[in-house]
Amino acid sequence: MEIQIQSLEQIRDAARQFIAAMGDNTVFAFYGKMGAGKTTFIKAVCEELGVSDAIASPTFAIVNEYRSDQGGELIYHFDFYRIKKLEEVYDLGYEDYFYSGALCFIEWPELVEELLPGDAVRVDIEEVEGGARRVTVGGFDGNKE
Ligand SMILES: Nc1ncnc2c1ncn2[C@@H]1O[C@H](COP(=O)(O)OP(=O)(O)OP(=O)(O)O)[C@@H](O)[C@H]1O
Ligand SMILES: [Mg+2]
Repeated sequence: MEIQIQSLEQIRDAARQFIAAMGDNTVFAFYGKMGAGKTTFIKAVCEELGVSDAIASPTFAIVNEYRSDQGGELIYHFDFYRIKKLEEVYDLGYEDYFYSGALCFIEWPELVEELLPGDAVRVDIEEVEGGARRVTVGGFDGNKE
């Protein structure tokens, strides 16, 4: 499915559409160029899920943990942009996160592609004309709509 975000004013509405489409999936891999809007969209989704902590891309830790105020659900937010070797991801104990059943939102998944669970949902974010964003959920696999 595709979600259009015409401007930042519409991002909450876009986040709600995304949440409605998540189903039982827990691992979401967000692809998109630098500046495409991955962090911004993940932040909006987390806020709509009831997270009130400050949400920003993990810098030193690779992963940030948030907790929803509505129901206490855990959400993990990864940014693999800075990893140099997969060893760092093994050391992090990535399986404990990816297979925990908690929501995992991943930026720069291409850097850990071989470690992603088979049922991870691909999400593509692109900037289109005029600065709007197009979010494609379950894009290229065909079976993850
Ligand atoms: N839907 C949107 N509409 C308009 N501007 C946006 C949108 N999403 C993000 N932006 C703007 O684009 C810039 C980059 O956004 P963001 O940091 O979310 O990108 P990113 O994909 O996480 O980049 P990186 O790969 O560096 O982590 C920010 O200034 C943000 O305000
Ligand atoms: Mg980012």
